[in-house]
Amino acid sequence: MSGLAGRHGDRSTPWYSLLSRAKRILPGESLLGGSGADVMIDRTIINRARLEELTARERTRFAVAHPASMRAFDSAGQHLLGGVPMTWMRRWPGGFPLYLATAHGARVTDIDGNIFADFSLGDSGAMTGHSPAQVQAAVAERYGELGGGTAMLPTVDAEWAAAELHRRFGAVHWSFTLSATDANRWALRIARQLTRRPKVAVFSYCYHGGVDDSIIIASPHGPRSRPGNTGAPVDPVLTSRVAEFNDVDALERELACGDVAALLMEPAMTNVGIVLPDPGYLAAVRQLTREHGTLLINDETHTFSAGPGGCTMAWGLDPDVVTIGKAIGGGIAAGAFGLSAPLAERIMAGETADLIDTGGIGGTLAGNALSVAAVRATLEHVLTADAFEVMIGLADRYAAGIAQVIESRGMPWNVVRLGARAEYRFCRRPPRTGGESHAAADPALDAYLHLYLVNRGVLLTQFRNMALMCPATTDADVDAHTALFAQAVDDLVG
Ligand SMILES: Cc1ncc(COP(=O)(O)O)c(C=O)c1O
Repeated sequence: MSGLAGRHGDRSTPWYSLLSRAKRILPGESLLGGSGADVMIDRTIINRARLEELTARERTRFAVAHPASMRAFDSAGQHLLGGVPMTWMRRWPGGFPLYLATAHGARVTDIDGNIFADFSLGDSGAMTGHSPAQVQAAVAERYGELGGGTAMLPTVDAEWAAAELHRRFGAVHWSFTLSATDANRWALRIARQLTRRPKVAVFSYCYHGGVDDSIIIASPHGPRSRPGNTGAPVDPVLTSRVAEFNDVDALERELACGDVAALLMEPAMTNVGIVLPDPGYLAAVRQLTREHGTLLINDETHTFSAGPGGCTMAWGLDPDVVTIGKAIGGGIAAGAFGLSAPLAERIMAGETADLIDTGGIGGTLAGNALSVAAVRATLEHVLTADAFEVMIGLADRYAAGIAQVIESRGMPWNVVRLGARAEYRFCRRPPRTGGESHAAADPALDAYLHLYLVNRGVLLTQFRNMALMCPATTDADVDAHTALFAQAVDDLVG
């Protein structure tokens, strides 16, 4: 994928302080990132009793403002496991989820008629904004007018979409899936097949979907299955190696064992808070993986926020495989993985890999006509380079507003931005590793802020306080969030 190398310049200064902030937009940056300061939460600054009291107040307000959602949730437990269509939908600090009525652009309306500025955007699945007109039209045409949502026959949209993914992410040959999880699973199978090596490597506290091999963490006592790993088919310690992000020596130690087929990574971690790579780190990762014969898989599912070709394009990366999902379907289930030309040639020529029947790669509806039509419309008309410029500008405004609030109130917190995505954390300096970031979590504070905002018309992802901009987000949405954030902080410590 060398064609993309250096296209968007180097990123040798990814972090910069608020005071010296240049106007130019960098794809990833941390505001207020003081060096040498603590990454542990300073709990003394928050009165915990006050936090509890305010959270209880917000929870009551949440219940009062959402009676229809509460009723729907209360009566949904009979036949839905956990009372929700998917068990993670229970994870709402208000005690029950909002029920969706409508969603367009950057707006969501619940069944009580409350309208929200949506910065959650389906945890990236709706990075396009909800139901953008061009994807609606493509889906309506494919499913309605033309028919044949899934006929197990290719459509010409697929080659168009693959060529566009190549132009953006460098990988030459692409296959489609229905989720990022499947893209990762199948990329790992191909890596194991090609290298004939048994293990994969990941970073501690990564998330790549329900990929068995990746649910592992590093600990002072060595690698271990991540707590809560449900019904693991095999202990991931047997299938995987794990290192902390930004620790070159630890990665080298793992790869030097010589049994690692692939390193599966996000170029910046996004699922344990945003953890940006140190300057030079990704180049070291590429060099180490090459030296040790390990394939490098960039999972761009969330880091797509960095620009039209994700971090791969924005930072001139050169992975062997790229995986992606969520946003590329504009809200319709879609995912994809792309291989470099030599890898594609080898896997297609391999005589022992069954790629067309029951060899473990493939899903009946994968690459279906509807899904691929949505991917084409998304890439052709919605998540364009122009759209990213707007979205990144909005995230810049968002992060600067948060940084100003943090600084003016003297809070030992920080805000990090990755293209169109930004997140505030409750420690002075942005964590450098997944382990650090995990330890810096403050679920009580997350819950308070989430509820405070949702009660006043702003929706952040319920998993943490991460915000994503879509092309329909407005300056006014961003400023409304900043004002509420300031108010929430003042209520807490003012
Ligand atoms: C980086 C990354 N990869 C893969 C996935 C899995 O996506 P999906 O659940 O759509 O399969 C996620 C989900 O959050 C993700 O953040």
